Amino acid sequence: MTINVSDAGGRHRSPFRVLARRALALGGAGLVSVTGVVALSGSAHAAGSTLGAAAAGQGRYFGAAVAANHLGESGYATTLDTEFNAVTPENEMKWDAVEGTRNTFNFSNADQIVSHAQSKNMKVRGHTLVWHSQLPSWVSGLAAADLRTAMNNHITQVMTHYKGKIYAWDVVNEAFQDGSSGARRSSPFQDKLGNGFIEEAFTTARSVDPAAKLCYNDYNTDGVNAKSNAVYNMVKDFKARGVPIDCVGFQSHFNSNSPVPSDYQANLQRFADLGVDVQITELDIEGSGSAQATNYSNVVKACLAVTRCAGITVWGIPDKYSWRASGTPLLFDDNYGKKAAYTAALTALGGTSGGGTTDPGTGGGTDPGTGTKTCTATYTATQTWSGGFNGQVTIKAGSAAITGWSVKVTLGASQTTTGVWNGTTSWDSTGKVMTITPSYNGSLAAGASTSFGFTVQANGNTAAPAVSVCTAS
Ligand code: G3I
Repeated sequence: MTINVSDAGGRHRSPFRVLARRALALGGAGLVSVTGVVALSGSAHAAGSTLGAAAAGQGRYFGAAVAANHLGESGYATTLDTEFNAVTPENEMKWDAVEGTRNTFNFSNADQIVSHAQSKNMKVRGHTLVWHSQLPSWVSGLAAADLRTAMNNHITQVMTHYKGKIYAWDVVNEAFQDGSSGARRSSPFQDKLGNGFIEEAFTTARSVDPAAKLCYNDYNTDGVNAKSNAVYNMVKDFKARGVPIDCVGFQSHFNSNSPVPSDYQANLQRFADLGVDVQITELDIEGSGSAQATNYSNVVKACLAVTRCAGITVWGIPDKYSWRASGTPLLFDDNYGKKAAYTAALTALGGTSGGGTTDPGTGGGTDPGTGTKTCTATYTATQTWSGGFNGQVTIKAGSAAITGWSVKVTLGASQTTTGVWNGTTSWDSTGKVMTITPSYNGSLAAGASTSFGFTVQANGNTAAPAVSVCTAS
């Protein structure tokens, strides 16, 4: 069921709830659309004929983010095992996944990935220990002293469970703001523990598993800019004061609005010159054909040109499972066919392709578009259970590219949320209306989409929350 409302007022309108309630009652998946203006061979085959083998030939790893629930799909597992020699659990090691309830740890999904990786002699990157997102609400609600205890306990328990099995940990993820301020991002950790939470997390991490490399990981730090300067200064300070840090992760999520920076290699090099490894940790590049292929080639070449660039991880295997699936940002198409981008990456690694390219592409990238910036917000209840439900709002740019969006979500009486993902949340004074703005996903090409989601504790009220019109900028 889809409801389109073209009012740009951004206020809750009662028909949504009525119809959305009906949608939920009908199928549990209601839809409401609101319109507004180090070398490691892994399972490598013939030397250089796979990404992992070619990277190993260069003294690097080539990894992929992996989701446990896809490992049973033969194309997925075969491509992973054939092409990659490192993995990063995409969501399974995050705080909400392993310690949703205080001191009750659930490692089953993450264990599945780690066991798979070990059986194939792949490196594992641990992602992530301390992050403001995918953080259970019980953590956000703690007072400072208790939060400190909880943070150090979380690091200790998770790292102890995986001790000896993890090549590198993203100890702290995304602690800096976007933009020109160079400031730390507001988060429960930052707001209650101050700047010192980052070094405390690293110091705790070192004491638990001294053999694991300890990384700071962030996005929009791929070129020289205010944010990467701030991270650079922190790493320089840590090295000067002996705070344990071994590596910096550059997520490298690229699209037409956030292209591969021209100073990408120089930026990697300046961090490496501080005495840390650099790692490309979440690479994806939206687009298709030769334009996308060239971008992948340039990223791989930049890493190979920096001696301390230890390896590259792409953020998924086939396009269909990408967090940005509509931007087709990965190396394999939905049927695990090798794209032009795959061949370009393999060639840049010095490998030789054993298979054909199945993606003819357009070579053009994405048209940034012109005209009035608009977006739509479409609400879907993606999962319901007796005590609540997961909601997802898909934001789609209109005929012009946008660099930001904003949507209000109004909870029903008695409802509370226990987590929001892929969006930054601010609450009004009633505690019922959250304004969601992008976390990483503000820039959308014309017609492109992204989504954010949230979990609602119903407390007896299973009505769909009201979603306002989408405001684009
Ligand atoms: O598992 C539930 C499923 O049960 C439910 O039906 C479904 C309905 O919404 O949600 C599923 O959870 C999803 C989860 O990934 C697991 O698939 C969430 O919707 C989805 O929003 C969540 O997104 C993840 C996102 O981090 C959360 O912030 C992406 O998969 C993951 O790729 C992304 O990864 C981040 C890195 O950790 C940090 N850097 C940016 C990167 C991209 O956003």
